[in-house]
Amino acid sequence: MQQFTIAVIPGDGIGNEVVPEGLRVLERIGSIFGFTFRFQHFDWSCELYKNSGRMMPEDGIARLRDHDAIFFGAVGFPGVPDHISLWGLLIPIRRELDQYVNLRPVRLFPGVVAPVRAEAGEIDFWVVRENSEGEYSQIGGRLFAGTADEVVVQESVFTRRGTDRILRYAFEFAGRLERKHVTSATKSNGLFYSMPFWDERFAAMAAEYPDVQADQYHIDILAARFVMSPQRFSVVVGSNLFGDILSDLGPGVTGTIGIAPSGNINPERVYPSMFEPVHGSAPDIAGKGIANPIGQIWSAAMMLEHLGQAEAAAAIMSAIERVVAGDRNLLTPDMGGKGTTRSLADAIVNAL
Ligand code: NAI
Ligand code: MG
Repeated sequence: MQQFTIAVIPGDGIGNEVVPEGLRVLERIGSIFGFTFRFQHFDWSCELYKNSGRMMPEDGIARLRDHDAIFFGAVGFPGVPDHISLWGLLIPIRRELDQYVNLRPVRLFPGVVAPVRAEAGEIDFWVVRENSEGEYSQIGGRLFAGTADEVVVQESVFTRRGTDRILRYAFEFAGRLERKHVTSATKSNGLFYSMPFWDERFAAMAAEYPDVQADQYHIDILAARFVMSPQRFSVVVGSNLFGDILSDLGPGVTGTIGIAPSGNINPERVYPSMFEPVHGSAPDIAGKGIANPIGQIWSAAMMLEHLGQAEAAAAIMSAIERVVAGDRNLLTPDMGGKGTTRSLADAIVNAL
């Protein structure tokens, strides 16, 4: 029987509540489709930071390398500054394991009331976010801190290699979809160097993929279009910062970020890829047992897809869809229901 070795990092807050439900779904789907998992758990978190001064051990990345994939919850908690927790755990994993694609689906499910006027099935697109460079850099500085002369500089880094590979991924990905269409998020009217370069590379890449339609919008109007006409998108590609914002806005438009999943993907498969919900550790609801587990469970489906188990992934998606379209009371409060993390996950496991 095929076995997958998965590194499991629940992290902080509701990560500890939704990850176990994701694992339960994985165990169940494995028993149906005939494969198993070896889960190796890591307690890397803000909790560990408070006890040891590190978010993960020094050889943490090396310990992840031999797994087939990484199943991640969320990181960050009050008491540890967010830039310490994020740069101490999530960002090093994404970068050192060369997970340069952050892939996030946006889909409106039957039964979900969206804050925009749209029917189920009408909103169905992917945000492809650059995940390794761009605006998120540690290059810059701060001078004369705390004085009236304080100066802060934060640099962005756009390499041709980094830009081309994310754009190519977006075009390849769109080429496999029914709607072969890539939209680029830009801001070449405001950012003087980075975005004109991005636009140039986008045009060059579009020329290589004549079967895929291409268009581009400045990030400000693109954000407005996500709200006004989300039906028109198929694949939206953006830099690290723009992609980050759009991939929360997308799920927001479809009702709740509690259901949104993501993959941090190393397309060459030299390193394991990592799957995690889009949401964070939600300190405001942590410990209450009411976190929506669907983002984590959908992330499990994305992981299976990546591991070559497309049928099992589709079965999870169908179970999620049926539960979401069913008894509203089963859903967690963020979706207007009275359910708990456990009862909603139970419903999905039963639907499988
Ligand atoms: P958040 O995503 O944790 O929470 C935003 C809002 O959405 C909160 O009101 C929360 O209750 C709600 N929410 C989030 N997930 C939910 C779920 N599954 N079910 C129901 N409601 C849900 O974002 P926030 O508050 O900005 O950040 C909290 C912490 O999480 C910070 O330390 C931040 O750095 C970290 N974070 C980590 C991420 C990651 O690990 N990838 C991503 C985003 C934030
Ligand atoms: Mg984000």
